[in-house]
Amino acid sequence: MSINQPSLYIGLLQATDLDALYSYLLKLGPETRKRFAPHAFDREMLDNLFIRQQDLYRAYIAKPDSMGEIIAYAVVMRGFLLHDLPRLQGYGLNLSHETDCTIAPSVADRYQQKGVGSLLMSHIIHDLENTAINRMILWGGVQAENQTALRFYLRHGFVKLGEFDYHGLNWDMCLNINS
Ligand SMILES: CC(C)(COP(=O)(O)OP(=O)(O)OC[C@H]1O[C@@H](n2cnc3c(N)ncnc32)[C@H](O)[C@@H]1OP(=O)(O)O)[C@@H](O)C(=O)NCCC(=O)NCCS
Repeated sequence: MSINQPSLYIGLLQATDLDALYSYLLKLGPETRKRFAPHAFDREMLDNLFIRQQDLYRAYIAKPDSMGEIIAYAVVMRGFLLHDLPRLQGYGLNLSHETDCTIAPSVADRYQQKGVGSLLMSHIIHDLENTAINRMILWGGVQAENQTALRFYLRHGFVKLGEFDYHGLNWDMCLNINS
């Protein structure tokens, strides 16, 4: 599957995209699901996050054209995960719900390794540059064996904060923006 970059729409999810996002999540294969599981993949959860809690959560999506299926999705939460707080503070981070955000990106199986995730990530970073957010933290870290993702984050300027064990070794990483 090749990507025609000029016709790729990347932007914020609209309420009218929720069914397409649900289809996207259902089609993710087991390898991707093993690595990308920020929330339950049910329709009610999507309403809960992006309609009822839209002040806290936003979704960025990529579509081959403005009417097409979704081929990449990232959820961005304002602030940080409360259950990760002690671990993140252990790295000396001074966390804030106003200036930190937490991100989990994904690309549809057959579109991975084609630059789509990079376009999505660059768009999000650029979008956040004009906000009060100045740091992006990985949602639950990244599995150390997920070499593609590790290289991906390093390429986008993320730095390793530390390691932790949860079903194997994971890295906490963050990216300073607006600096
Ligand atoms: C991690 C993830 C979001 C990265 O997105 P992606 O679109 O696959 O990433 P990119 O295509 O931008 O970059 C990946 C590689 O493809 C290469 N690439 C980019 N464009 C390419 C192209 N047109 N042709 C061939 N390779 C290409 C990049 O150079 C990069 O190579 P590297 O791994 O040697 O550095 C995606 O692979 C994914 O969803 N993985 C499963 C879920 C996951 O791991 N999520 C993160 C959880 S922490």
